[in-house]
Amino acid sequence: MQGQAFIPMCPMTSADHLPLTLPDYHARAAEALQAEHAAYFLSGAGEGVTMRSNRRDFEAIGLRPQVLQDLRNGDTKLTLFGTQMAHPILVAPFAYQSLLDEGGETATAQGATAQEALMVLSAQSSQPMEEVRAQGGTCDWFQLYWQTNLDGTLMLADRAAKAGFQVLVLTVDAPVNGVRDDEMRTGFVLPDTVRPVNLDGLPQPVFDPLSEDDSFLFNRIAHVLPRWDDLRSFCEQSPLPVVVKGILTPEDATRAVKAGAAGVIVSNHGARVLDGAPSAISVLPNIVQALDGSVPVLMDSGVRRGSDVFKALALGADAVLVGRPVVCGLAVAGALGVSHVLRLLRDELEVTMALTGCRTLADITPDRVIPDAHRLT
Ligand SMILES: Cc1cc2nc3c(=O)[nH]c(=O)nc-3n(C[C@H](O)[C@H](O)[C@H](O)COP(=O)(O)O)c2cc1C
Repeated sequence: MQGQAFIPMCPMTSADHLPLTLPDYHARAAEALQAEHAAYFLSGAGEGVTMRSNRRDFEAIGLRPQVLQDLRNGDTKLTLFGTQMAHPILVAPFAYQSLLDEGGETATAQGATAQEALMVLSAQSSQPMEEVRAQGGTCDWFQLYWQTNLDGTLMLADRAAKAGFQVLVLTVDAPVNGVRDDEMRTGFVLPDTVRPVNLDGLPQPVFDPLSEDDSFLFNRIAHVLPRWDDLRSFCEQSPLPVVVKGILTPEDATRAVKAGAAGVIVSNHGARVLDGAPSAISVLPNIVQALDGSVPVLMDSGVRRGSDVFKALALGADAVLVGRPVVCGLAVAGALGVSHVLRLLRDELEVTMALTGCRTLADITPDRVIPDAHRLT
């Protein structure tokens, strides 16, 4: 294991104004954020059915201890798309980070870099992608949505490649916004000062809730939404490898790889889109089985502790992404908070590995977890 993992690990934990644990970060952020921002960043779609599954299904998985194993010279390293990484915890793409801290995405990138965590920048970032990249560091992947047509999508992809990003993440699970009860109740709208600056000049589908059209979505929007052929064309012409984010079934996973995806992210978008969708962790094993090692499989949605990272890896993920924990770190203490939550996750992963007798990520095999611990006595 890495030497510093079992002592109060980084100097920043001595900063006594910072929360001490990951749940404390969430509680502090929920308290500090304005109601409409808390609704946007922390809540899920609809009545929160999927949001609850995301946690419940992680909690139902037990860990199988293993004692007296030789842990010398262990580590959490891995290689993904040719890049060596210190650990398997990535920062998920999330929009409009300047609403949480004036440092915005740049602050998140600084915090991620301090913890050697790869960051995925959202196309809907509140700062230009070139500025965030110019900081150097670990913000190496760029996430985008379909930009109503292939040309617009490739234009954004080419710009990301020129800025130095190395992998593209195409998110396919939110062609339209989910039903966001909490945002409607609190009246969330973007202030004039924060907008998706990277999308300036690109055509965006316009939703008009007041339209008199009987089915505005099907009549006016559907024709600009991406289909499988579009994914294939994009993968063929993309300047960078394309990882497809937002997959929840083995059929879609297989189809994405056939269309040219270099990897998939099993995700329900942090429960923000389709309320009633299954948790990502519950569908992960079948997707891993269907893809049979053909491409890397990442997962996100509901990862809140280092032990959750361990569970996802045991069930076949190569790496995980975290959204809300980073949201909370940024909201509470800017770059320092981001770095601290990532540090806590890394340390917890290492502790879990030590207590289950795993020296490296390769030791985190399916038999280290008990899939439905509540049913076993
Ligand atoms: C406020 C917010 C905004 C998000 N914006 C994006 C986005 O722009 N693109 C994207 O692919 N996913 C977006 N996501 C989803 C995350 O990338 C990720 O899938 C999700 O947060 C993981 O779940 P978790 O928050 O439970 O860790 C967003 C999530 C949040 C919380």
